[in-house]
Amino acid sequence: MRVVSTSSLPIDLAGQVTARFESAAVVVPDHWIGVERCDLAEADALVCLLLDRIDASVIARAPKLRVVANCAVGYDNVDVDALTSAGIALTNTPDVLTEATAELAFALMLAAARRLPEGEALVRSGTWQGWRLDQLLGIQLLGKTLGIIGLGRIGQAMRRRAEAFGMRVIFADPHAPGALSIDQVFAQADVVSLHCPLTPETRNLVNAERLAAMKSTAIVVNTSRGACVDEDALVDALTGGRIFAAALDVFAREPEIAVRLRSCPRLVLAPHIGSATTEARTQMAQLCADGVIAVLSGSRPRNLVNAEVVFRG
Ligand code: DGY
Repeated sequence: MRVVSTSSLPIDLAGQVTARFESAAVVVPDHWIGVERCDLAEADALVCLLLDRIDASVIARAPKLRVVANCAVGYDNVDVDALTSAGIALTNTPDVLTEATAELAFALMLAAARRLPEGEALVRSGTWQGWRLDQLLGIQLLGKTLGIIGLGRIGQAMRRRAEAFGMRVIFADPHAPGALSIDQVFAQADVVSLHCPLTPETRNLVNAERLAAMKSTAIVVNTSRGACVDEDALVDALTGGRIFAAALDVFAREPEIAVRLRSCPRLVLAPHIGSATTEARTQMAQLCADGVIAVLSGSRPRNLVNAEVVFRG
């Protein structure tokens, strides 16, 4: 039995797998090498990151593969239909990163509302002349309306935080009772925060029309997937002063960040660190190990994405 990981992990995958399957070979590089560089010819299980594109070409290199454990809650990097047709299980890592991601989204909302990066840059530049009555005026969140796009686990965690801050919360979600339309959320909210998966319906969900419909004091926060935002339209809205600010943790073509984005005013930027806490990342890796061991033992893993796959012991 052979388990291959495309990356180092913050858990002892080899120890855990061999404790269950004594003769198993477990290949874990000391950093992320990418699925293209992994030898999958004999692999029964693959642990991968959202950076790895898992599609038919990977499946063709892995004739024995039974499970792909994607170390992320999102799985837009995976061709799920291709795995399902090949009878390969896909697992992801929900729940364990919910609070970490909501904390980051909240931090970004505060940073954008209170212009923290501008303040930090001013202090670090050595040119700060001291307190001024009108310096770096931001937006108070108390009493403002947060619009959540996607009221899943992370959206709900964001909602709890916003309500604790005295914000009113509205949301758009095809599955949530009481939801408004996406357009209504954009028109009414003071802050819109994205917590939806990337699908054909959510690609470029933040576009020029919706940005134009927002209040001039509005803020956009994205910790979901970069392609949910039309980045050119966002830069135009910010440089034209049509909205107050935005904060992005994710980008359409990571790790490439367009120069327009990097030099855009009123835009807080973070390097896709929504789940980057020691607690979350350790538990994400643990869920991958649990999924691999479950499938190789012939059981149904807890976080199975493609429920159609049949398990054989
Ligand atoms: C995910 O899990 O989908 C995040 O983007 C990375 O943790």
